[in-house]
Amino acid sequence: MCGIVGYIGTKNTKEILLSGLKELEYRGYDSAGIAVLQNGIFSSYKAVGKLINLEMKTKDFKTEGFALGIGHTRWATHGKPTELNAHPHFGENSCVVHNGIIENYAELKRELQTDGVTFLSQTDTEVIVHQFEKNQKESNNSFEAFTKTIKDIHGAYAILLATKGESETLFFAKQGSPLLIGINDVNEKYFASSDTPLIGQCSDVTYLEDGDYGYVTPTKIALFDKNGAEKETKFVALSQNKLLAQKEGYRFFMEKEIYEQSRVISDTLMGRAGKDEILFDELDSSLFDGINEIKLCACGTSYHAAMSASYLFERYAKVKTSIEVASEFRYRKPIMTKDTLFVVISQSGETADTLETLKMAKAAGLKTLVICNVDNSSMVRLADASILTRAGIEKGVASTKAFATQITVFWMLSLYIAKLRGSLSQEETASHIDTLRKVPSHVKVSDEMHERIKRLSKRYLHGHGFFFIGRDIFYPLALEGALKLKEISYLHAEGYPAGEMKHGPIALADPTLFTIALLPKHLLYEKAKSNVEELSARDSTICAISQIPFDKADDFVEISACEHYMLEFFEMMVVVQLLSLEISIRLGNDVDMPRNLAKSVTVE
Ligand code: F6R
Repeated sequence: MCGIVGYIGTKNTKEILLSGLKELEYRGYDSAGIAVLQNGIFSSYKAVGKLINLEMKTKDFKTEGFALGIGHTRWATHGKPTELNAHPHFGENSCVVHNGIIENYAELKRELQTDGVTFLSQTDTEVIVHQFEKNQKESNNSFEAFTKTIKDIHGAYAILLATKGESETLFFAKQGSPLLIGINDVNEKYFASSDTPLIGQCSDVTYLEDGDYGYVTPTKIALFDKNGAEKETKFVALSQNKLLAQKEGYRFFMEKEIYEQSRVISDTLMGRAGKDEILFDELDSSLFDGINEIKLCACGTSYHAAMSASYLFERYAKVKTSIEVASEFRYRKPIMTKDTLFVVISQSGETADTLETLKMAKAAGLKTLVICNVDNSSMVRLADASILTRAGIEKGVASTKAFATQITVFWMLSLYIAKLRGSLSQEETASHIDTLRKVPSHVKVSDEMHERIKRLSKRYLHGHGFFFIGRDIFYPLALEGALKLKEISYLHAEGYPAGEMKHGPIALADPTLFTIALLPKHLLYEKAKSNVEELSARDSTICAISQIPFDKADDFVEISACEHYMLEFFEMMVVVQLLSLEISIRLGNDVDMPRNLAKSVTVE
């Protein structure tokens, strides 16, 4: 991950690549690189950090006349953000840039290493170029070798590959990650992973479909579908609005990120959800040796993910689990024993309070693990082990896709620990993994659902408060729903355990107290339902979210029929996110940058 550009033409190739990468900066990255093939010679430059570092490195590099080039901004998933891990990756005569994740990279890498190939990076991407060269040696035809390579690799990808022997050809393939080809009236050809680098350069674009692959030369675009049949390239006019292009047509980044959840959860699962076991290449199972308790510590949304994890860990891994709000933990002289695994959760990896608790745990000699979205962040550097959530950059201040991927990681981690502790049978684990694989399709936002929530939102713009209620793991989801709403709508909202309402808050019930009730069919349905009935009897306005119709509700949002409470969890998560979004939009608030909030809270 994260951004790709490519170019074939006679303009200044270096400048085109660098300015294309600049247009992709909004997607976030931690390193960048380019490679240019001109007169049969590759020139390549890479740099860690901001693009200015790459610009400095290439300042004496000139490209005049015909050339082809590829460029990449990287958001680390496999391997640290270092120059060696930055793309393009080279074999003997070829180079590649890639977005996505190659699921079977470890297997291919082992085979290639047995054949004597030396790998320079820790990335999954590098296998593509070596596999291509292996196939090239066997077939003597570069396109045939490329076609075979994309059959050999499994996973998600947008790939651009160049090879010395074909200095006028750029090979491409797309599966799961976006890739566009742009053209203009001076016969240049551009590639990019989103519209923005092409705006101002191209008049028309084609959005490649999954399974598409082919090659481009100065005079030809050869496009093939997933069955290997040649197909026509259909171009459409390119819109010239950059901000709109960055938001990919969505009104706000938060909305885009809600819609992205399906894809990023697939990324989170990739290579980790095996057939009947969970694989975390990044973990050494000895991390769990001698551990009798897991302590989870975080802030805000990440804390809600931690709380959700505590239900999964105790239920499946049968390990005692406690949770801590980081800002509280750091000042309360906690007892820390060495049989405790200390886990911090953070989207940014920089939150001051959470970072401090990690330092405390390290100082007390505890083993530590971080679940984080940003490689090389302070927490990732400090903890003994880390698992990256692979959500990609999150721009909306209100966290959505980061939370979705944190929950996915925790569910997998509970199964991973369950295996170590023998607390789930192989069949049970396999059945969980089956269900996990269904999550991406359950978080896809349907037009009907979004439309329904948009309409519903107009009835929830006033009132004296919202209660989001749920039981068990739906309680932290209720907390998260309430947090989302208050952050961007500025309306008062609380999350509450449904069974606790009658111990006080029910006194508030009246028609302008809005209750958002999470009613999963597969977890304590009858219990939660009777709690909602108590509120309904006191005339609170109820919006129920469930797969079972509920006649005591004023409004009802029906989620799809599914057979596991965690699928209900993920669907309800999307509903509460969309509800907050639509209420906030109706109130005219700045959804992406709500007042008084910052994306990363690096001060106490
Ligand atoms: C809520 C939100 C915050 C963060 C919190 C922790 O939408 O974004 O509550 O979750 O500030 O941030 P991280 O996860 O970066 O440590």
